[in-house]
Amino acid sequence: MGSKSINNSSSSLPFGEGWSRAKPKVTLVGAGPGDPDLLTIKGAKALAEANVVLYDALANEEILAYAPKKSIKIFVGKRKGCHEYSQDQINQLIVDNALTYGTVVRLKGGDPFIFGRGSEEIEFVESFGIPTFVIPGISSSIAVPANQGISLTKRGVSESFWVITGTTSDRDLSNDVALAAQSTATVVILMGMSKLAQIVSLFQNESKGKTPVAIIQNGTMPNEKIGIGTIDSILQVAKDNKLSSPAIIVIGEVVRKRNKLKGFNKELACNKVCARE
Ligand SMILES: C[S@@+](CC[C@H](N)C(=O)[O-])C[C@H]1O[C@@H](n2cnc3c(N)ncnc32)[C@H](O)[C@@H]1O
Repeated sequence: MGSKSINNSSSSLPFGEGWSRAKPKVTLVGAGPGDPDLLTIKGAKALAEANVVLYDALANEEILAYAPKKSIKIFVGKRKGCHEYSQDQINQLIVDNALTYGTVVRLKGGDPFIFGRGSEEIEFVESFGIPTFVIPGISSSIAVPANQGISLTKRGVSESFWVITGTTSDRDLSNDVALAAQSTATVVILMGMSKLAQIVSLFQNESKGKTPVAIIQNGTMPNEKIGIGTIDSILQVAKDNKLSSPAIIVIGEVVRKRNKLKGFNKELACNKVCARE
């Protein structure tokens, strides 16, 4: 899939040239957790009408095939060797492209409102009087565990779940992890791999060393990997199996009670379960 990179100054955008001056309109579309088939039908329909698509690293590029061939595709995620856009630059790019080309889709991994900065983007775009729409996506926080047979709530096992960021805007571990460690809920942590040791010690402080943990990397993708252990063993499991971001950490009894899906992921090239339970 070819993508076109443009710089962030509106004056450098090619004006007109074959583009109808459609009314500016911005739609935030949740791309789902990774498997392109987990995009919603409504998301695919929005893409089909897009003149410009701005997409993140966690939005599967195969999804861009739903956009018209002539549409402009701009990668604004973080990837080695690519220019890195600040959030301010991304906000400005969305507005510039909407004013120039009309219909813009902002394609974001998972759901735009789950640690996706979707609401900041909407506030910025709407301050220019440009109408915005949101098409929810399937968040990795629920879909990635589900794809491994982990039911975040389960009758008699877990009555609720927390979804927490491992890395706040100050780059710290969220204080909510310590609170969640005191609860009986299933705990789902996104962006937590660099803080795994801290997370482990918070749960150990609550005498939860034997609580089961799963780390799922690249969930729903062909290169999906899972490591299973307990609070006491998970650091070793992660190290032995070189588990890294993007990954979801699931902590709770539901990991032990996961469903062994018989038809599970047979088509996946790599579905390695590394356990130290
Ligand atoms: C900035 S957050 C965006 C979350 C997204 N809005 C959502 O609803 O899934 C990025 C984090 O989501 C998690 N993540 C997203 N996609 C994932 C996947 N396919 N497998 C594992 N973790 C994933 C990782 O923790 C990653 O660091």
